[in-house]
Amino acid sequence: MALNDAAKLLGQARHVVVFTGAGISAESGVPTFRDALTGLWSRFDAQSLATPQAFQEDPELVWGWYEWRRRLVQQVRPNHGHLAVARLAAHVPQLTLITQNVDDLHERAGSEAAVHLHGSLFAPRCATCSRPTPSPATPEQPAEGRRIPPPRCAHCGGPVRPGVVWFGEQLPEEALFAAAQAASQCDVLLTVGTSGLVYPAAEIPRLAARSGAAVLQVNPEPTPLDPIATANLRGPAAEILPALVSAAWS
Ligand code: APR
Repeated sequence: MALNDAAKLLGQARHVVVFTGAGISAESGVPTFRDALTGLWSRFDAQSLATPQAFQEDPELVWGWYEWRRRLVQQVRPNHGHLAVARLAAHVPQLTLITQNVDDLHERAGSEAAVHLHGSLFAPRCATCSRPTPSPATPEQPAEGRRIPPPRCAHCGGPVRPGVVWFGEQLPEEALFAAAQAASQCDVLLTVGTSGLVYPAAEIPRLAARSGAAVLQVNPEPTPLDPIATANLRGPAAEILPALVSAAWS
């Protein structure tokens, strides 16, 4: 299906779900996870950085790595893909934005109430008592791999951890419930910049398809979501999304 036909579907939709992954932030300069060479998991070991065990064993390494990522995100800006998603909300009767990303680029682009399935780099909490803690002052650009001692919880003295969902951890229940509900009720789901490999998040586009919604995929590469998609729009998000919104409401 061509872009104009996909735009027609979008233009007629009552309830649109936008489901995003790391690819939507790639053109802002935030590395994805699985892209060859540039992806974080081709440069860093997920097991020694993104698991509760890793934080237990070496909290300074893990905290330092997330501080590096947080600083990087603070230095970049939303791109035309994020801006198009924010614009889309003004055009459709109902929009639910669900993201796997832990950056705040959707919010900085003007999107409201993004459902963060994998948490956020800007919501640290105590690893012992789970109380949210304010984000510490951002250090000058921490070098990659630099160890930084995590701050201590003001309430119980426990170490503060990044507010992200690590491998082996449950997704936030409320966010997952809101995402599943929206996916089962929407009539169009736009999936952007995700490899569709990490569950349970990757179930969301599939749930929408099973519930009768049209799935529109934006990704320069094929993914396991191709077979369930009504349209596979091959290209970068910052190009395809503005074109889609303009074609739907020009
Ligand atoms: N525009 C659109 N898509 C892009 C772009 C771009 N400019 N650049 C890359 N992509 C696509 C890639 O082709 C790939 O399919 O984005 C996808 C990124 O996939 P992943 O790196 O696997 O990221 P994601 O799907 O978000 O990962 C899911 O895995 O590591 C965990 O918790 C982490 O939330 C993350 C989850």
